Amino acid sequence: MAVFHTKESLRAELLQLRNKGRTIGLVPTMGALHKGHLSLVKEAAAQNNVVVVSIFVNPTQFDNKEDLNKYPRDLEADTKLLTSVVPDIIIFAPEVEEIYTGDVSSASFDFDGLEFRMEGRYRKGHFDGVGTIVKRLFEIVAPHNAYFGEKDYQQLQVIKTLVKKHQLPVQVHGCPIEREENGLAMSSRNERLTKEQRKEGGFIYRTLQTAKEKFGTESATEVREWVTEQFKRHPLFELEYMEIADADTLQTADVKTNNRKYRAFIAVYAGDVRLIDNIALN
Ligand code: PAJ
Repeated sequence: MAVFHTKESLRAELLQLRNKGRTIGLVPTMGALHKGHLSLVKEAAAQNNVVVVSIFVNPTQFDNKEDLNKYPRDLEADTKLLTSVVPDIIIFAPEVEEIYTGDVSSASFDFDGLEFRMEGRYRKGHFDGVGTIVKRLFEIVAPHNAYFGEKDYQQLQVIKTLVKKHQLPVQVHGCPIEREENGLAMSSRNERLTKEQRKEGGFIYRTLQTAKEKFGTESATEVREWVTEQFKRHPLFELEYMEIADADTLQTADVKTNNRKYRAFIAVYAGDVRLIDNIALN
């Protein structure tokens, strides 16, 4: 295991490995690691000689200062978890000044409209922040492969678009959502839930599963209305949005078209903790 805090030291190490013909897999994270992150790390280890995990709470993708300040940080615990699955893992844990020289601001990107939908609509500038950090990490690490979770399905689509538009020499892989026993999608933010919220968290996924069943026979509008109604009745969770969209373009599905894949997306508040989840519908 090795931890690098500077671009230069990491680059030098990776150059040596690349010159020896080793393939490099990158898993970008913001730390506070859980089994969801580890599933990406395992996939990277299965497909590459070298696994690099970046741990960096990227300030420019947060539209909410409090969410940024409250984001859990524990490099020691993260390192322990990572080495338990890949003993010779390479960790890149830079300070903000190492990534953002001068202004802590993002570049602006055109993701063909993906950036204005759902998460982009409710979290202004979020995908400019994500695009900025992921592009920078790709430049620093120059990985052959990079791994992202379907938990953030819109982010995965945005990054695929980033790579295509900027012709970046990296293969992007999407990995399935890891869930807690009750179905709640694993997330670093789950740590901030109360005991009761966490216990009841399975409600979000159960509602998505029933939405999927209903989507077989009902229209997208009917399914959306049904989900909205379920959340209105629930005392612990407040629905921010529920969207049924084309899995590739993320355009709202008003009418179902044959041969198109659809997904349901959801953002929910449990107190001041914001949770997201999604499910393939067909
Ligand atoms: P973070 O939220 O730490 O997530 C890092 C990666 O882990 C993302 O690709 C995310 O989709 C994946 N992930 C999180 N929870 C998961 C789960 N339950 N199952 C499977 N995969 C899961 O996403 C980010 O960080 C940042 O936006 C980042 C890409 C690092 C850029 O700052």
